Amino acid sequence: MSFPSPYSIYQWLRGVNPATITDDQVPATNLVGKWVIITGSNNGVGFETAKSFAASGANIILACRDPPAWELHPTAAVQEIKDLAEAQGHQSTIEWWSIDMADLQSVESFAERWLQSDRALDILCNNAGIAAAPPGRQLTKDGFHFVHQVNFLSHVLLTLRLLPSIARSVQPRIVCTTSCTHHVAPLDLDHFDCGPGMSGDPYWNNKLWLQIWVMEMQSRFLKLPEYLHITINGVHPGFVASGIWEFLTDESFIERALTFLLRYLAIDPKQGSYAIVNAATNPVFGPNLKTQGIGSEEGLGGGKYINRIWEAVPKACCNDPEARAGVWKKLDEELQLEQKGLLAILGL
Ligand SMILES: NC(=O)c1ccc[n+]([C@@H]2O[C@H](COP(=O)([O-])OP(=O)(O)OC[C@H]3O[C@@H](n4cnc5c(N)ncnc54)[C@H](OP(=O)(O)O)[C@@H]3O)[C@@H](O)[C@H]2O)c1
Repeated sequence: MSFPSPYSIYQWLRGVNPATITDDQVPATNLVGKWVIITGSNNGVGFETAKSFAASGANIILACRDPPAWELHPTAAVQEIKDLAEAQGHQSTIEWWSIDMADLQSVESFAERWLQSDRALDILCNNAGIAAAPPGRQLTKDGFHFVHQVNFLSHVLLTLRLLPSIARSVQPRIVCTTSCTHHVAPLDLDHFDCGPGMSGDPYWNNKLWLQIWVMEMQSRFLKLPEYLHITINGVHPGFVASGIWEFLTDESFIERALTFLLRYLAIDPKQGSYAIVNAATNPVFGPNLKTQGIGSEEGLGGGKYINRIWEAVPKACCNDPEARAGVWKKLDEELQLEQKGLLAILGL
């Protein structure tokens, strides 16, 4: 077991910054006529993000599973978001489409349904996530560790499947909810799918895979004329008091410490949602005019790690070509991208 360096711990702790963000820092952008898909949007950060997009007039697909009974049901979430949009005078489409990120076939069916709608997708928010596998179960029906599949593999598959539709948008954005915890993850490619002997923690490690993948995707987009205009970023929403912490008990020192921190330091999901809304709409986190041929002079051009609404340094290995190549190779093996006809986009 390797311990994170003091520098990694420092970068991780920067993610706990509880500063209050205001609407002035993330001003509303007109999204009338735009189409947005947000995974995990029936509660927490995703739900608040959907509300913000709805208030700006976007059409939204809430990509959610049929949740456990204690969570807000997507039909109730849709109604609340619809009411909010209507109160702002918008006649937008707000719908729940079922997707279970722990089931690859469900991801395939969702993507197929979207592609059949023949629409351009303007904003994809890869947001659904879990902190740990459900009690008593480690593997999904597809045979992967739950955290690996829900937080990472399914989002990769969803994004690759939706790329043709994303590419039809004029200035599409993909926002992936990574985490400051990627900083404390070891680079343990030998245990890509977690499992016995893995260093670190499934949650941290998969957030690292996701941040590495985000950065590699942007660099590949820049080489492919049909995807050059797409911007993808990873965001840490902040240390948010949300349902993701429900697994916490007072059984260990770490869990007790986290409960304490949640009470005194955590921000609320609305504050967390600013990170995604900002990455999806702020011109600074949009395309770079010079390299992508669209967007504004101030556009950074994607492939960034954004700590709440501020650009921050990703873990150094996210820029390491060997680490990136390792992630692509493992992804290809696990998702059988070649057989699915999805390898070409990866340029492998
Ligand atoms: N909270 C934090 O401090 C923090 C920090 C860094 C990053 N993040 C990331 O932020 C994202 C949102 O988390 P949150 O804090 O808003 O937690 P949350 O309230 O628990 O939301 C997580 C969402 O993911 C959904 N989800 C879980 N398993 C799913 C599955 N198999 N299929 C489809 N959807 C599924 C949940 O749906 P159900 O209602 O059905 O469970 C829920 O809508 C996650 O990616 C998380 O890792 C959170």
